[in-house]
Amino acid sequence: MEPAYVAILSIIFLFSLYRLRGGRPRQQDQWQDQEQAAAGSHLALPPSRSRECFTEHDVTFANRPRFPSLLLISYDGTTLPTCGYGPHWRNLRRVATVQLLSAHRVRCMSPVISGEVRTMVRRTYRTAAAAPGGAARVELKRRLFEVSLSALMGTIARTKASSAEADADTDTSPEAQEFKKALDEFIPLVDAASVWDLLPVLRWFDVFGARKKIVAAVGRRDAFLRRLIDAERRSLDGGGENDKKSMISVLLSLQKSGAGCVHGYRNHGSVLCSVGPSRLLGADDLPRLGYLQCIVSETLRQYPVVPTLIPHESTADCAVGGHLVPAGTMLLVNVYAIHRDPAAWADPAAFRPERFEGGGAEGRLLMPFGMGRRKCPGETLALRTLGLVLGTLIQCFDWDTVGGAEVDMAEGVGITLPRAVPLEAMCRPRQAMLDVLQKL
Ligand code: HEM
Repeated sequence: MEPAYVAILSIIFLFSLYRLRGGRPRQQDQWQDQEQAAAGSHLALPPSRSRECFTEHDVTFANRPRFPSLLLISYDGTTLPTCGYGPHWRNLRRVATVQLLSAHRVRCMSPVISGEVRTMVRRTYRTAAAAPGGAARVELKRRLFEVSLSALMGTIARTKASSAEADADTDTSPEAQEFKKALDEFIPLVDAASVWDLLPVLRWFDVFGARKKIVAAVGRRDAFLRRLIDAERRSLDGGGENDKKSMISVLLSLQKSGAGCVHGYRNHGSVLCSVGPSRLLGADDLPRLGYLQCIVSETLRQYPVVPTLIPHESTADCAVGGHLVPAGTMLLVNVYAIHRDPAAWADPAAFRPERFEGGGAEGRLLMPFGMGRRKCPGETLALRTLGLVLGTLIQCFDWDTVGGAEVDMAEGVGITLPRAVPLEAMCRPRQAMLDVLQKL
């Protein structure tokens, strides 16, 4: 496997991980004394102790456990999210943070993200304009998933929305659709493999044929990635501005030059007021939209996307809160409960973006992207995409609940905290934005 594939897969794998289903965060808001759990192979701690694991013990807990099924799909655990702490991880991490996801790179990706947001807004506008009364009932889950997938694929491989036709079923590029197909194939397989991971006897005899199915799916995924990389390699030979390169092109250039050794929404009129009705919101507007950022932070506080982070593992014995934690202990961080700890957050169940205004939440433990060495390197890209998507939807449309009913915020089952009921809302183009929307 070429090193470039490994680095690209590090990013793609993480995206796939968001969609895997399995565990469920603890839902209760009250803390129980769980420190005794430290004696076993799993560690569950209250917030004060969790901080300790990512500060003085950060290096000790920087390893990842090796689940057999994940090893099969992550090139024997050599991708960035899955590999053990050490020189290989440091290498991949440096490429990811310096070359692929730095603030400068993410700024250069903004036109690609804005282009995908624009396509999504155009489709939403057409749906609303064609509906009786000028307001349509839209299923936001699929649209938001498609726009984030398209934006990610566009930054990885310069793919483009395939169709802007009003009657087409989707705006996503063929590559994004193929990637989604691969994900849809992986999810039930990895789901089923969680039992397989725990019981070696099932693995030895490949009961249920899990290994065979995973290996076949991995083969199809790799063929798809190879095609993406080959296409980028061909277009790279034609030159092009460095700043506009996709992530794959950046990696291929590094490889060539040998330079890098690659071994619940709320409506808020402030967006419209700040940007005005003559153009769509752009990435440069985001720093001025403080309240929009507060909405994103408050949403990630109440509903962290990865509520138990990716499991960590300790490489040496250490003492946390006076308890001995042996080497090889798996650390699952209950971010969901940390973000709702009443000792840190006033009225934690209330959705109150204002709590973040003027640095009001500084010093509190907020970690939707993790903390310490293994913190998410895609945070800047994720926040920019979230800001652009949410800000543009607020700028262009008036939103309402369906039939005036309360939005059902019940949580479904999954390691990525899905909604139990997909979000639907009534969407009406804003009068002031009609001129811009009609020209999209
Ligand atoms: C809202 C969007 C996102 C959220 C909430 C999120 C959250 C997280 C979390 C919680 C972790 C685990 C941290 C830990 O283990 O302590 C993580 C790791 C990671 N994320 Fe993200 N992430 C997001 C988007 C992205 C994007 C867009 C990319 C890249 C394009 C990305 C790349 C990664 C990688 C490579 C890792 C593994 C880092 C390592 O193990 O060293 N993430 N992310």
